[in-house]
Amino acid sequence: MSALLWSDEYSVNSAEIDNQHKKLFQLANDLTAAVKRGDSSEAFSETMDALIDYAYVHFAAEEALMIHLNYPNTPSHLAQHAYFINKLCDFQAVLPSGKVGLDREVLEFVETWISTHILENDKKYAPYLRP
Ligand SMILES: [Fe+2]
Ligand SMILES: [Fe+2]
Repeated sequence: MSALLWSDEYSVNSAEIDNQHKKLFQLANDLTAAVKRGDSSEAFSETMDALIDYAYVHFAAEEALMIHLNYPNTPSHLAQHAYFINKLCDFQAVLPSGKVGLDREVLEFVETWISTHILENDKKYAPYLRP
């Protein structure tokens, strides 16, 4: 459990998208704080709601951008976004069970998915943004 820290290696050559990714980092770090506080499943779920809501906003912006750029990997990229949202909704459905360690499991998934997705997938459309 370590906070996501922004660095230039995450940049996709778009200030707008970089700022959206920074906001995702911040929302993931809010989950880290919730785990550290030992928030109830209800409170943890609300923190997840904020992340899911913003992920929708960011994914919609990114998807519109990829279509605008005629980015060839758009369909598989969209499937990855859908996977992230579905996975978080699946986690939320089992949160009320009170399963021990589920909050850490969610956090680990979120941190790993966001950082890996940006570095290995979002960065692949960066060359298409160059003038
Ligand atoms: Fe993406
Ligand atoms: Fe992204």
